[in-house]
Amino acid sequence: MRIHDTIAGLRAARGSAGRVALVPTMGNLHEGHIALMTQARSHADQVIATIFVNRLQFRPGEDFETYPRTFQADCEKLAAAGVEHLFAPTEAEMYPQPQTYQIEPPPEQAGILDGEFRPGHFRGVATVVMKLFQIAQPDVALFGKKDYQQLMVIRNMAREFNLPLEIVGGETVRAADGLALSSRNGYLSAAERTQAPNLYRILCNVAEAVRGGSRDLAKLEKDAVLELQASGWIPDYVALRKKVDLQLPSAHDSGLVVLAAARLGSTRLIDNLEV
Ligand code: PAF
Repeated sequence: MRIHDTIAGLRAARGSAGRVALVPTMGNLHEGHIALMTQARSHADQVIATIFVNRLQFRPGEDFETYPRTFQADCEKLAAAGVEHLFAPTEAEMYPQPQTYQIEPPPEQAGILDGEFRPGHFRGVATVVMKLFQIAQPDVALFGKKDYQQLMVIRNMAREFNLPLEIVGGETVRAADGLALSSRNGYLSAAERTQAPNLYRILCNVAEAVRGGSRDLAKLEKDAVLELQASGWIPDYVALRKKVDLQLPSAHDSGLVVLAAARLGSTRLIDNLEV
């Protein structure tokens, strides 16, 4: 695997790489990321992974400084997965001057759900992803469905800007007990790690109730929030939304997804399940 820390270096390598799949990450790679690398391989001749902890998408007081940085271990995993190129720029390479031009996704997509609790987060994500697309010029780019709203924002950005690339979503990879793999799981204490799979269990119950014909979505959401609270979580939201645009469903809409974000101690976890 070739490691590039400059835009010029990556661009030179990309020139002769044929059909390219890009998998942007912030590192601290787990099986979910590696599944995306494997999926990327089936779409392209060469895979470019990126590792860049993007300051722009963190709010003051969030975990930018402490976000786990495990570069050597990440390189070993990517090499073992057969990834051809890793782009791992410094902040000075990505943001040599303040990023005054940014991508502002519409509030009805980026100001809801996670965007309501992390204002500006999706602006930071969209901006860095747009930059990575301009730098790597991929034919296809892959993002995990665990970050469902992020995937929607990036898909819509690519479509509305006529970007010449395909956006592909990868299925969430879970631990045996159901917990969605996430770099932030490492923050959990042993007791919290035991409690953490309940988030997925509760989402499964909501999805099951909807599949079984229950249409009082507000009650399902409220009961799920209460159940989380009763087990010591501090939920930001549990929300049933339309898969296509994450807007509120009307009575007869099908194609729903249930999404949740909740804090366990100081760790904020998100998860979702298509119904
Ligand atoms: O999902 C992530 O890891 C990040 O939000 C991304 C897409 C790499 C942008 O920094």
